[in-house]
Amino acid sequence: MQLRVALIGFGVVGQSVCEVLMSKSESLSNTNDFSCLVVGVSDLRWGTVFNNDGLDLGQLLTEARDTGKFCKNLTDWDSHTLIRRCDADAVVELSYTDLETGEPAISHCRTAIETGKSVITSNKGPPALAHRELSELARHKGVQFLFEACVLSGTPVFNLAHSCLTGNTITEIRGILNGTTNFMLDEMESGANYDVALAKAQELGYAEARPDADVEGYDALAKVVILANTLMGGDIEPSQVPCRGITEIDQNAVAEAKREGRRYKLIGAIQRDGDGLSARVCPEKLHLNDPLSSVSGVNNALTLKTDLLGEITMIGPGAGPTATGYAVVGDLMRILTVH
Ligand code: HSE
Repeated sequence: MQLRVALIGFGVVGQSVCEVLMSKSESLSNTNDFSCLVVGVSDLRWGTVFNNDGLDLGQLLTEARDTGKFCKNLTDWDSHTLIRRCDADAVVELSYTDLETGEPAISHCRTAIETGKSVITSNKGPPALAHRELSELARHKGVQFLFEACVLSGTPVFNLAHSCLTGNTITEIRGILNGTTNFMLDEMESGANYDVALAKAQELGYAEARPDADVEGYDALAKVVILANTLMGGDIEPSQVPCRGITEIDQNAVAEAKREGRRYKLIGAIQRDGDGLSARVCPEKLHLNDPLSSVSGVNNALTLKTDLLGEITMIGPGAGPTATGYAVVGDLMRILTVH
């Protein structure tokens, strides 16, 4: 089956989605009967392109990288016009995360759903700030609102919880939710200073467009809010969650922790608290016998405490272009398989 798609945003993740679609096209078609026709792309930097018969992804990647702009199939449509007028089954929202307003991503998602298109996003703004509105609108319109890429990138969290763990009640969540800071803490333990470690994480495509979001803990905070509201029935806002990042932890602090037989990790946690939830993001100096202390590099980890199965822990890549591109492609396939 073929899915018609429009991409909003053609940065690191948008380009990686195209690369995964191209490199896996034959096996997805043969094994999963899945193909994807990208009919439109809109990006503030490269412009907007549309072709109802499908765009050439290889050409788009070359144009973006070599000439710095889209050249063929150009239109003067803005992102909302593309979303409204393209005849797509799904809109993939990949603009940069703004955790204060959630815009322009929330409006993009709303326009797509209102015009009968499913939405897939790697942008944490919409599920963190408007999950209830967008998921109810999607249900009403008979389309899907999926965001697997938002937490642990391609390592399955929501799809796992909603399929394999159905019937369990999740009572507690604790984990390492930001790849950039986990990578930086490891690099600092190996002797790099803070600035060098951050520059390396940016170079590898792990960090947010504004890496403050990683090191100040706001990226992990958004993920905590998404997990609380989607997997634990919460209704919390980012401003209600105490949040500290790793900006106060330098190479010396990491070395001192190592001498004590401990290791710093940026931890996000959610617990039931009476009828509500309490959540936090902060660095913790873990004993080396804590399983989370051995989660290294860009990997993330998440432990879900459930009533029927006990504790389930996932460890896997938490950031990076290919891992995130894969998460988006996985959600695209899910649109055709889940009704
Ligand atoms: N900047 C994020 C991280 C990307 O490092 O985890 C994935 O959400």
